[in-house]
Amino acid sequence: MLQDKRILLIVGGGIAAFKALELIRRLRERGAHVRCVLTQAGAQFVTALSLQSLSEDKVYTDMFSLTDESEMGHIQLSRQADLLVVVPATANLMARMASGMADDLASTVLLATDKKVLIVPAMNVRMWTHAATQANLATLKARGVEVVGPVEGAMACNEFGLGRMVEPNDIVAAIEAALSPQARPLAGRRAIVTSGPTREAIDPVRYISNQSSGKQGHAIAAALARLGAETILVSGPVSQPDPVGVRMVKINTAQEMLAATLAALPADIAVCAAAVADWRVAQRPNAKIKKALYGPPPRFELVANPDILATISKGDVARPKLIVGFAAETEAMLDNAQAKRKRKGCDWIVANDVSPAMGTFGSDSNTVHLLSDAGIESWPTMTKVAVAEQLAQRIAQHFQQAAE
Ligand SMILES: Cc1cc2nc3c(=O)[nH]c(=O)nc-3n(C[C@H](O)[C@H](O)[C@H](O)COP(=O)(O)O)c2cc1C
Repeated sequence: MLQDKRILLIVGGGIAAFKALELIRRLRERGAHVRCVLTQAGAQFVTALSLQSLSEDKVYTDMFSLTDESEMGHIQLSRQADLLVVVPATANLMARMASGMADDLASTVLLATDKKVLIVPAMNVRMWTHAATQANLATLKARGVEVVGPVEGAMACNEFGLGRMVEPNDIVAAIEAALSPQARPLAGRRAIVTSGPTREAIDPVRYISNQSSGKQGHAIAAALARLGAETILVSGPVSQPDPVGVRMVKINTAQEMLAATLAALPADIAVCAAAVADWRVAQRPNAKIKKALYGPPPRFELVANPDILATISKGDVARPKLIVGFAAETEAMLDNAQAKRKRKGCDWIVANDVSPAMGTFGSDSNTVHLLSDAGIESWPTMTKVAVAEQLAQRIAQHFQQAAE
């Protein structure tokens, strides 16, 4: 499966770096070509000579090497591989990846690549569970970076816990999965995802909007892209990073979101996770509304915004084969969600309770129910990234079953 695959192996500065040597042997046995980038800290743990001997290729360590740049520029290095694998991914390297730094060859190559990236973290348990590392991990996952491990076990620092790097055989399996076509069951499918809130102007400086963070919608777009779908993410104003491998269309209003969604058709899959404002102000002045000192506050007439989910489900458009809506409810959740599914004409509804007690908006976890013709499935509380993974897998299964 790995015959003639090109792996760019980035070796970071952790105790587990010695396992990279074993990994190279296993990859070479399977016919893969391995080229290594060694960080300065990595060179404290393994030598470039060992990596070079086992990979039978040049080892790259320096960003400002004239010889390396003339033979193989750093951009080429990042693109001439089928997969980039970071072993071990140190806390430091994860932080630099998450913040988009490019201050050495490894981080620059990781920023410049257009290929899939798999990281294999290894660090002390406290470093791993630190909020900073966990936030970096969530950012990287949301951008489509694949992560394998760490696992629980004894560590070189004499502590025990989560942070130990997975063994070379497991890394090989993860590399095979990342490179195998079965890992991309949605290849050849096109998906549109809407995410975030919309913003409806009252005047040039004020607006009506809602609490949607875009975390769930963005994670779904990233998960569909990871499974191989050509994914277009139509997003309202959010502070989420743009997921890797996804085409972004950024909009403000519901009318713009509808236009962008229709422009992205035809598609196989549409997931409408955006919290579209139901109403907009009928007459918007071109200048800021002045606060009258003693006068009454202004009154606004609201008009209904277009219903994007209903339009693509029932409208005179090229209907996507599978349309998934979201129902954010605060009461009678399942009844309301089931009624919404029928009313809008979509195939599935993901219902979630957004009452303040659940803290769903902006949080990293979500408790959802999947409603379809087959009935109601209640999923356990999971991170929004895990909900996205599971939903993307279910979508892939749906298309596999339809093809059988
Ligand atoms: C003996 C020793 C062991 C280390 N092991 C790890 C480790 O397992 N994981 C980690 O994230 N950092 C570890 N560090 C810290 C990193 O080497 C340090 O953060 C370095 O800047 C990482 O650089 P790099 O990410 O460019 O490779 C270790 C440091 C020392 C001195």
